[in-house]
Amino acid sequence: LSAPWSWLFIGYLLGSVPFGLVLTRIAGKGDIRSVGSGNIGTTNVLRAGGKGLAAATLLLDVGKGALAVWLGSQHALGGDIMGGMGAFLGHLFPVWLLFKGGKGVATMLGICFALAWQIGLVFALVWLGTAALTRYSSLAGILAGLAAPLVPLLQGRWDAALLLGGMAMLVIAKHEANIGRLRAGTESKIGAKS
Ligand code: G3P
Repeated sequence: LSAPWSWLFIGYLLGSVPFGLVLTRIAGKGDIRSVGSGNIGTTNVLRAGGKGLAAATLLLDVGKGALAVWLGSQHALGGDIMGGMGAFLGHLFPVWLLFKGGKGVATMLGICFALAWQIGLVFALVWLGTAALTRYSSLAGILAGLAAPLVPLLQGRWDAALLLGGMAMLVIAKHEANIGRLRAGTESKIGAKS
């Protein structure tokens, strides 16, 4: 486990647990993938199942990203970067769901905080500010994802800046349908039912 590559794999396993899907199913809400946007993340769990389930999904999706980075950092040089990359890829492309996973915002938040609190803080503030102003969770996630790599860039942490820059690109790619709805003015707002 002192090889950084092993943390890519362990991170992937952690990240690939689809908490939103599991929790809503346990709570008897049916298959979250046939509700609202069809996504397995916190925003859609809120649409399907209410605040408690959404809060639990957020906590666990953030937690798995943070845990992968932290565990990797304890065992291998570069293990934090590899663990974070693994967890993010696991959440977006879980083998258990035939590689159809989430959009990565909550998991990226956890990864940011575990890399450095300053990165997590900037991510959280951009998300909260955008959400407060627009009520669009998707736009908040995209802008937070884009802001996050700027912090390690300023700190001169190239490994983290590259990792987060790559993640921001994947977050944007995963929000393709949301971006289409934002442009059409049909994206649902936080708190709305669909
Ligand atoms: O974190 C996911 C969010 O940015 C968008 O979720 O369900 O509105 O597509 P959703």
